Amino acid sequence: MSVLSAPAPAASTVPAPSPAATASAAVAQARSAEVEAEIARDPGRFRVLTGDRPTGALHLGHLLATLDNRVRLQDAGVEVVLVVADYQVITDRDDAGDLPAVVREVVLDYLAAGVDPARSTVFTHSAVPALNQLLLPFLSLVSVAELERNPTVKAEAADAERRQGRGMSGLLFTYPVHQAADILFCHGNLVPVGLDQLPHLETTRIVARRFNQRYAAASPYFPEPEALLTPSLTVLGNDGAKMSKSRGNALELRASEDDTVRFFRRARTDSERHIAYDPDGRPEVANLLRIGAHFAGTTPQELADQVGDAGAGRLKSVVTEAVVEGLRPLRERRRALASDGPAVVRDVLARGNVRANEVADRTLADVRELMGTVYA
Ligand code: TRP
Repeated sequence: MSVLSAPAPAASTVPAPSPAATASAAVAQARSAEVEAEIARDPGRFRVLTGDRPTGALHLGHLLATLDNRVRLQDAGVEVVLVVADYQVITDRDDAGDLPAVVREVVLDYLAAGVDPARSTVFTHSAVPALNQLLLPFLSLVSVAELERNPTVKAEAADAERRQGRGMSGLLFTYPVHQAADILFCHGNLVPVGLDQLPHLETTRIVARRFNQRYAAASPYFPEPEALLTPSLTVLGNDGAKMSKSRGNALELRASEDDTVRFFRRARTDSERHIAYDPDGRPEVANLLRIGAHFAGTTPQELADQVGDAGAGRLKSVVTEAVVEGLRPLRERRRALASDGPAVVRDVLARGNVRANEVADRTLADVRELMGTVYA
C-alpha cells in the first residue's frame, strides 16, 4: 500500500499519466513548497486529514512515504486527524479479515511512529455515523461520468478483477466521494498525498465547491482542501515491485531484527558490482540506497560512494544495519505499548471516536441547516 495506500495496482493496469496530469502535478509541486513555508510560519492554519485502510500492519513503505511525514506535521503544530478507514477495506474484497486485530496493529504502528493521541485524533470510519451520512448529499454533487474518469479507481477495479475475478462494487466506484466526507467532515484543508491520489483530492475539491455554490453561496462553508505532495518516496519490496502488503514483499515495522536481516538478504539487486545511484537504470539498487540513506541520515549518492566497489553484498549489510538501528526506538516503543495490553489502543480509539463524532455531528447539523432539511 502506497502513500495513503491505495493497493498497488498491477503494473499493466497503471495508466500512463496524461499531459494534463503531468501539468497538474507540476502545479501541485510548486504549491506544496509554498504550503510548507506557510506551515513553518503559521501551522495553526492547517488541519490535515489522512489515513489508512486497515488491511494489515504497516510497513517500511508506509513509514517512509507517509507516517514520518504525519509525525513531522504534528510536531510542527499542525492539527492531524487520522482515519482508520475500515469501510474502505470492503471496497474490493469480500473477506475483510480480522478487523479488530488489524486495526489494533495499525494504531500500534501509529503510536510507535510518534503519533501523539493528545495532539492528534485517530478514529475509525464505522464509529462515526454523521460522517457517513455526508456521503448522501455529496453523491448528488458528482456525476457518474466524473466518477468513471477517476484513474485510480479504474486501476483498483482492474486489479480486483484480475486478482479475484470481482466486478467493481458500488462502494469502490464511490469511495472518492466517501473520502470527500472523510476530509470535509472535520473541515480538513490539507491532505498529504502521493501523485496517484491527486484525482481523489480533486473529487473532494469539486464536492466542496459545488456544495458551497448550491447551499452556501453567501459564505462558503467547506474549505477546498489542498494537496501537500509528499516527497515521492516509493519504497520497493524485496521482489523489486512497489512494497505492498498484498504482494507479500513488505518489511513490516513490527518485524523482528532477524526478519529484517532476512528481508534485505533476499532483496533483489543487479549484476553490476560497482554501486551507484541510478534510479531509472538500477531501480532495486537505488531503492536500497534510498532506504539506507534515510536511516543513516545521508544521501543516496553519498551512500553509493561509500559502498562503491564493495558491491551489493556490502550494500545490503550497510542498509540492514541502518534500518535495524533506525527502527530500534520505534520497535521498542511498539513492544512496550503492545505489552501494556488492549486498553492502550482501545482508549486511543475511544477518545478519537468521541472527538470525531462531536465534530461530525456539528458538521452534519450545519449541512442540514444549509440544505433546509431541518423540520422540527
Ligand atoms: N485511501 C487511503 C488508503 O487507502 C485511506 C483514506 C481514507 C484517506 N480516507 C482518506 C486518505 C481521506 C486521505 C484522505 O489508505
